[in-house]
Amino acid sequence: MTQTIAIANQKGGVGKTTTVLNLGLALANRGKRVLMVDLDPQASLTTFMGFDPYRLQRSSYSLLMYPEISLVRVMQTISSLVALLPGSVDLATAAIRMVQEQHPLGRLRSGLREHQFTFDFILIDTPPGLNVLTVAALFAADQLIIPVQCNYGAMHGIKAIQDIIRHVREGMGNSDLMLRGVLPTFFDRESVFTAKILADMRVLLPGQVFNTHIPFDSHVADAPHTGKSVIDYAPESPGAAAYRLLAEELLTPKATD
Ligand SMILES: Nc1ncnc2c1ncn2[C@@H]1O[C@H](COP(=O)(O)OP(=O)(O)OP(=O)(O)O)[C@@H](O)[C@H]1O
Ligand SMILES: [Mg+2]
Repeated sequence: MTQTIAIANQKGGVGKTTTVLNLGLALANRGKRVLMVDLDPQASLTTFMGFDPYRLQRSSYSLLMYPEISLVRVMQTISSLVALLPGSVDLATAAIRMVQEQHPLGRLRSGLREHQFTFDFILIDTPPGLNVLTVAALFAADQLIIPVQCNYGAMHGIKAIQDIIRHVREGMGNSDLMLRGVLPTFFDRESVFTAKILADMRVLLPGQVFNTHIPFDSHVADAPHTGKSVIDYAPESPGAAAYRLLAEELLTPKATD
């Protein structure tokens, strides 16, 4: 059965898109079938995968707005193991139309669930801020990963997300949604403050923080400029190693699972 994981944090620039991309490819390197879903009007994931979000005829927008459109008509096959449901700039309009015209939030969920045996993992990239697109992603997902930058104010976004998880579980009937883990990102081993923030995170959220943390690594930021993930661009780099470890952690059932 597919694991559908939303990657969300209302804070911008915390590594959501980078995580979808590199974790997705690391899982595929382990032989898993992965669908990456771009729900962000910025469409950085889509651009990175080589598509022009201004020219796409069909995107995740179509799946959110038109019940007759199925996933297979909108997704792009990247390789034998990887597919992308691209995002487009009109997702910004979708966010407004979904509220104004009261489109059901569950379309993404049912659209993805039709294919629950096609993929081992569906990773959903969400926009910064907490809007209806993030809620649609959380409603479609059974798990949530929250990337959190190891810097000042790191924990501020977490409470808002926890409130939303509660609401999606109780008010919207997706009782399956569970926090798979908080993922510390931008860990700077030169900084004593970063280490303290990571330690605080583990105390405040016992058992909910991944063992793996993603280091600040310029290879991670440079990779998109070369059209490659960090895993292919700099396989020996600390960033690539961390994303491989994260994939391994996801594939290893917890003692409590
Ligand atoms: N571990 C890292 N080390 C160095 N740079 C990183 C790392 N992770 C991400 N970056 C860079 O930081 C920037 C923000 O990352 P990313 O786009 O993944 O964040 P985001 O949470 O998706 O942002 P947004 O909220 O705008 O969608 C990008 O330029 C990315 O290349
Ligand atoms: Mg992003």
